[in-house]
Amino acid sequence: MEGGTLLVRLNRYLSMCGVASRRKADELILQGRVKVNGLVVKELGWRVDPHRDVVEVDGREVKPATYRYIILYKPCCYLTSLGGTKEGKRTIEELIKDISERVYPAGRLDYNAEGLLILTNDGELAHRIMHPRHKLPKTYLVWVSGIVKGETLDAMKRGAVLEDGPAKPDSVRLVKHMKDKSLIEIVFHEGRKHIVKRFVSSFGHKVIRLKRVAIGPVRLGKLKPGEWRDMTKEELKSLRQALGIKSFVRD
Ligand code: URA
Repeated sequence: MEGGTLLVRLNRYLSMCGVASRRKADELILQGRVKVNGLVVKELGWRVDPHRDVVEVDGREVKPATYRYIILYKPCCYLTSLGGTKEGKRTIEELIKDISERVYPAGRLDYNAEGLLILTNDGELAHRIMHPRHKLPKTYLVWVSGIVKGETLDAMKRGAVLEDGPAKPDSVRLVKHMKDKSLIEIVFHEGRKHIVKRFVSSFGHKVIRLKRVAIGPVRLGKLKPGEWRDMTKEELKSLRQALGIKSFVRD
């Protein structure tokens, strides 16, 4: 290891270049279609230095794709999808028109929910954000009808059984009571459809407003509805760490 560079397995490097998934990359390697510095490598465990080694597939040099990591504040009443207006509903595509890379949302928010969406063209990171196996906590502020009592909060902490199985939040806390509604914070690490709304309704409270304020260590912060920004290096580093992805370049 020199100059802070880590060696990466050849199949991972090929997937970082957008050539193929790691499994497919292994097939390419075994088929003798991959060269490193001019020599065919058929060893699956082979490691490359992304800054120095020249990797070719079928005689053409491949390089890691340029990744973009965007934090978007999806406002209420936008669909989390790309492509123009659908059935008269606006989509988040119109909010990210000035981003040249083809980024796509890593996870969804309902049409009438708002808050943090991460958009990226890094398939591995997006997959891990969405996959429950990686248990990435998502934090929601939820304005609910009525006054949520202490005993209801305790019951929420214990979890509920929904139509598609049990649901247990990582945490629930009361933020404040208002005249005829309450604001609570709920953290879930799973992303079943309408999970927060269904969970809260099962305790007899209706969700009035739902806002996602964090995905793992990445927070919405001061963004306003409809605004986006690139993730900072520190945010990306902590997100990758939370998802168990090793950085291939040290800083
Ligand atoms: N839970 C919901 O009910 N809706 C969302 O958009 C996200 C989580």
